Amino acid sequence: MSVECFVTGGTGFIGQHLIACLSSKGHTVRVLMRRPERLAALREQVDRLGGVATKVFAVAGDLAQENIGLSHADREVLRQSRVVFHLGAHFAWGLSMEHARAVNVEGSRRVALLAAEQDSRLVMFGGFMLKNAGHLQRIGIDIAHPELTNWSAVYRRVGAYEGSKLEAHFSTLGVMSAAGGEMAVIHPATVCGHSRTGHILDGQPLAELIRNLVLGKLTAVPGTADHWLPLVTVDDLVEMAAACAFDPAMAGKELLALDGQSPGLRELLTEVATQLGAKPPKHHVPLRLLKLLLGIRPIARYLNASAESLDFIQTARFNTAEVERFRHKHGIAKPDMRQSLRNTAVFVESNYITGGQGIS
Ligand SMILES: NC(=O)c1ccc[n+]([C@@H]2O[C@H](COP(=O)([O-])OP(=O)(O)OC[C@H]3O[C@@H](n4cnc5c(N)ncnc54)[C@H](OP(=O)(O)O)[C@@H]3O)[C@@H](O)[C@H]2O)c1
Repeated sequence: MSVECFVTGGTGFIGQHLIACLSSKGHTVRVLMRRPERLAALREQVDRLGGVATKVFAVAGDLAQENIGLSHADREVLRQSRVVFHLGAHFAWGLSMEHARAVNVEGSRRVALLAAEQDSRLVMFGGFMLKNAGHLQRIGIDIAHPELTNWSAVYRRVGAYEGSKLEAHFSTLGVMSAAGGEMAVIHPATVCGHSRTGHILDGQPLAELIRNLVLGKLTAVPGTADHWLPLVTVDDLVEMAAACAFDPAMAGKELLALDGQSPGLRELLTEVATQLGAKPPKHHVPLRLLKLLLGIRPIARYLNASAESLDFIQTARFNTAEVERFRHKHGIAKPDMRQSLRNTAVFVESNYITGGQGIS
């Protein structure tokens, strides 16, 4: 079965792997690109990642523009898409609320409207924090009545990127419900590199963590012995997203893509350090103290870290029974997370630290 798919965020880390996965299954993939002149480079990358470059096409546009900046002709072509995968987002720390809203919230609403208008299934990428009810409540979001949320206060508390992802989720659910569109949501944990090759893009949170460890900037483990950074490998994630798109049972459902066997943060750092011959940190630093320190700009610059990234380090545990059932139903094997971490560590060191050219 070959299906037309529309992907936003296809030039990003998860997007590249998703396009490779979809095209390798025979689907045609149209990718929203702010710089469509980079299609040739994207196609080369899709080939390297195991996809089929000739199945990939560019559509010029920008999430921050009205109608995501599509030309009339491209809008007509996209009507053939049976599935719309929405991954596009400005993923960075220190964004202004106005900008994060324009791209991540308004952009998501625009993509949702497009999908609903043409009866395509929308597969939306959220984030695992949306499955942490206690956290949402603590930062002022009432899941039963998200419309009552004081979003400015939430943005101030968790930063504009995370605030906009949370707002985008509830706002998009509202749009799809009002328009009668069909939607499935996938909530990824922090994304680890490819389970076999370790491929990850520079700038991804896990790549930054590995870099900081190797460069000696991470001399203590953030949080306590109970803290962890829940992970999912990129290949596992895109297989699940592709399955989500074509599974009738996923209409109106949300899937938490998280490997419950991700190691604790201390073990994670030890695993990486041992693999790379670096020194693993032994002591812990309280998250509150680290947050205060990272509020001081020169320290944040020196440590190459942002207070916003600390919220993803958790003590909460998640129910992963549903994702295991989903894997089983679709025959998706779970990669070995520790091996994937080691492969990612080697990839980061050889491509982004020790003078490699960087495969991006
Ligand atoms: N990586 C993770 O650990 C993680 C975890 C949970 C959820 N997620 C979610 O998964 C999705 C993909 O994440 P990622 O890690 O692959 O991000 P990424 O590598 O930063 O890629 C972001 C993508 O969004 C596009 N984009 C940004 N601004 C845009 C705009 N104004 N108009 C159109 N496209 C725009 C980028 O295109 P350009 O090439 O033009 O910049 C790029 O293709 C995001 O929604 C993110 O919130 C990621």
